[in-house]
This record gives sequence, structure tokens and C-alpha cells, in this order.
Amino acid sequence: MNKKLIITIIITMTIALMGLMIIQVYWIRNAVTVKEANFAISVDEAISNVVFKIEKIEMSERLKKQMENVAKSPSSLKMLDSINKLSLKEFSKLNTRDEFEKFANQSFLTQQAIDRIMGTKKETPIEKRVNKVLIDTLIAIELDKYGIKTQYEFGVFNITRNSMVIQKTGAYPDMLLNQKESSTYLLFAGDVRSRRENYLIIYFPNKQQFIFSQMYGLLIVSLILVATIIVSFYISVSTIFRQKKLSEVKNDFINNMTHEFKTPISTISLACEALKDKDISKTETIYNSYISIIDEENLRLKGMAEKVLQTAILEKGELKLKNEWVDVIEIVNQAVKKIKLQVESKGGRIFKDFQIESLKVKADRMHLTNVVLNLLDNANKYNLKEPEILISVLEADAGALIRIQDNGIGISKTDQKKIFDKLYRVPTGNVHNFKGFGLGLNYVKAIIDKHEGRIDVSSELDKGTTFEIFLPFGDLKS
Ligand SMILES: Nc1ncnc2c1ncn2[C@@H]1O[C@H](COP(=O)(O)OP(=O)(O)OP(=O)(O)O)[C@@H](O)[C@H]1O
Ligand SMILES: [Mg+2]
Repeated sequence: MNKKLIITIIITMTIALMGLMIIQVYWIRNAVTVKEANFAISVDEAISNVVFKIEKIEMSERLKKQMENVAKSPSSLKMLDSINKLSLKEFSKLNTRDEFEKFANQSFLTQQAIDRIMGTKKETPIEKRVNKVLIDTLIAIELDKYGIKTQYEFGVFNITRNSMVIQKTGAYPDMLLNQKESSTYLLFAGDVRSRRENYLIIYFPNKQQFIFSQMYGLLIVSLILVATIIVSFYISVSTIFRQKKLSEVKNDFINNMTHEFKTPISTISLACEALKDKDISKTETIYNSYISIIDEENLRLKGMAEKVLQTAILEKGELKLKNEWVDVIEIVNQAVKKIKLQVESKGGRIFKDFQIESLKVKADRMHLTNVVLNLLDNANKYNLKEPEILISVLEADAGALIRIQDNGIGISKTDQKKIFDKLYRVPTGNVHNFKGFGLGLNYVKAIIDKHEGRIDVSSELDKGTTFEIFLPFGDLKS
């Protein structure tokens, strides 16, 4: 997949994702508006019912009182009694609000007549007409019927006195008077117009939370869906990039390997050609030198093939250690002996610093030797000066420490994290052509891990690098 196609896919998916998110936000906002409207309608209906009930209760009480008065009153008023009896009968049949309002109007006229005849015309203050507990109970019952289960505050406001005559708790006085926040309902619509001065006001302090609480399910599902899409998108994109990088690394490796194998093969075939050529006179020395060239190049080929094969074995998880008691000093000495000539051919030197004569750990001899060789090979290879390598062995708390320090090109902090990855090689551009497969340190780390040991690197660019291996004793000293 080329870079342009990947970028096009990423941009398209990002735009589609953002579009989807915008649509979701739009739908959720719509849903909130609908819920708010529903809430307002339910509150309207519930409180209208409350108002209706309050008025009905007052009316029924008034009619009852009139009946009692009439019973005690002189006979001239007996005719009103019949009106009242009629009223009571009708009153008990009232069900809807419309019917009630019609009745209240008639009743008001009747009341006026009664007041006129009896001289009882006086205005009862609103505090005496309604009672806080009653209103509260009625509101609670009605709101419950409409499924509104959230805290509320109410008050009764009298216009003439310009004050909140009754209030549930006294909290939120400003909110109750703020028409945008609260809902207002006329109390006693049956009163004569000039006396329509009492209003029941209700305010819900937690209205927004209540509306949202009804939408939690929707919100959470939306969030989970969006998060799932974003995470999957991220994983897909990073997988594409990782695969792309991997295929580049693999291509590099194959090119590199072909090149590395080609050199010794052509050297060997040239030497063979020369040996076969009858025109070239061969003294014993020339003959031997050709043979040793073939031998050396053959060994190089073998080493390279082994390295690749070993990585394949590691990958399959088929590596088995042949653990035995081995002397770390002896192993390090062997490795140094093998690499010494290479270092010296570059004008370099290897220094040894062993604090003890022998240090035994339980380890696989062959693999441990390879580990030290790999590190010494790197210390010698990644160096533009004359290599000076210091190898130390010391006894630590529960194991052996092997330290390999060089004065080479160093490794940057970011690369230090990657050098143990398979096939990773620090890019050096075309300036320095250090040969290698990027398999050495990956193998080293795998072997040290298998021994339950540890490998650390510390390095400074252009100054040098130190690798430190810790190998536990095994069950010898523990
Ligand atoms: N002592 C060192 N100094 C500087 N850079 C180092 C040193 N050791 C390793 N590196 C960097 O780490 C990279 C990985 O090392 P590693 O030994 O795994 O691979 P390699 O040496 O490139 O190939 P090979 O598989 O042949 O060992 C190297 O390419 C090199 O850039
Ligand atoms: Mg190496």
C-alpha cells in the first residue's frame, strides 16, 4: 500500500468520523429539546390538576359552610338554600376542568347574592384559603403521576401585596420570581376578575439533571460506540503503519543478507578458479593461502547462516538451553581470544578487568559465548576510531556482572529503546556503512532472558557505549 493511499484513507475516515460525531451531537441535542418540551407539558398538566383540586376543595368547603349557615338563618333565606342544595348536587358531579369553571362562575354569582343578602361580604386572605401542606401533598401526588421525580420548590404569590405569601421551604426565592426559570399558574380562576391576584409558582432546581438522567442510557451507548470506532480506527491505522515499516525492514534485511552472502561466495569461487587454473604457478605458500582464504570465507558463511537460523529457532520458541556450571571468566577469555585479531587489525585493543579468578554460574556455554562475542563484535564494529574495549567481570549480590565498554559512535536515547528489536539497525544514512543484519542484540536479549538475567545499555553519542549483563548464579549459591 503506498503512502498516498494510506493518507487518503486516514483523511476520509477522519472526516467520516467527525461527520458521524456531529450527527450524534445533533441528535442528542434534539432529544434533549424533546425531553424538555415533554417535561414542560407534564408539569403544566400536573400543576393545572393541582390548581383544579385546590379550587374544588375550597368550593366544596364553602358550600358546606353555607348549608350550615342557612340552616341557622331566618326563613327569608330559605330560598337560597334550594340554590345551594342544587349547587352541591351539581358540584359532586363535576369532573372536568371546563365543567368546574362554568360551575365556579355560576357559584360566584350565587355567592355574591348570598353575600349581599347576608351582609357577609368580606375577603378571606389567601393564607387562610390554602394551606402549604395540602398544596405540597397535591403537587407531590400529581408530579408522581406524570413520572416527575425530582426536587421542587413552590410558592403562592399575591399581586396586590406583591409578595410570596406562602413558600414550601423558602429556598430559591429569586428563581421562583424569575419567569424564565419557573412556571406560574393562576389560583382560583373562579374569583371575580379584580380578585384574580394569587398565583401558584413552581420551580425545579434539578430540572437539567433530571432530564439528563432520563437520557443516560442513550448518552452512554453513543459514547461507547464513538469510542469503539475511534479505538478501532486508531488500531487499524497503526497496524497499517507497523506492517509497512516491517515490510520495509524485511526488504532491507533480504537485500543486506544477499549482499553479505555474495561477498564470501564470490571470494571462494575466485580462489577455486585460481586453484584450478593451470597457467598460474602454485608454490606451497600460494596454495596454502588460497586454502585458508576459502576456509575463512567458509567460516564466515557458516557464522552468518547460523545467526539467521538461530533467530528462526528463537522465533519459533524452540530454543532449549543446555545449562551446566560454567566459569564466566573462562567464557569471556575464550570470546576475547576469538575477536582479538579483528580488533587489533583496526589498531584497537581489548583490556580485561577481572576482580576474581573464577566465577561460576549455571548457563549454556555455547549461547553465553555467543552473547559475549556479539557484544564484543558490536563494540569493535561501531567505532570510527581505534577501538578500545574494556571488559570487566565482577561478582554481584546474586549473580555475575559482565560489563563491556567501548569508545565507539554511541547510541542515541531513542535508539537505545529499539536496538534489541529484531532486524533493527540504527540508520546511519550513507555516511558509514556498518555491515550487519540487526539480529545480534535481539539474540543476546533472548538468551539473557532465558537465563532469567538482565541486560542494560548506557551510551552517549560519539563517546561510547556500555552494555551490562547480569546473570543469576542459578541454584549454586542461592
Ligand atoms: N556498541 C555499539 N555502539 C554503537 N552502536 C551499537 C553498538 N551495539 C549495537 N549498536 C547499534 O545497534 C544496532 C543493532 O545491533 P545488532 O547487534 O542487533 O545488529 P547488527 O550489529 O547491525 O547486526 P548483527 O546481526 O550482525 O549483529 C546496530 O545496528 C547498531 O546501530
Ligand atoms: Mg551486532
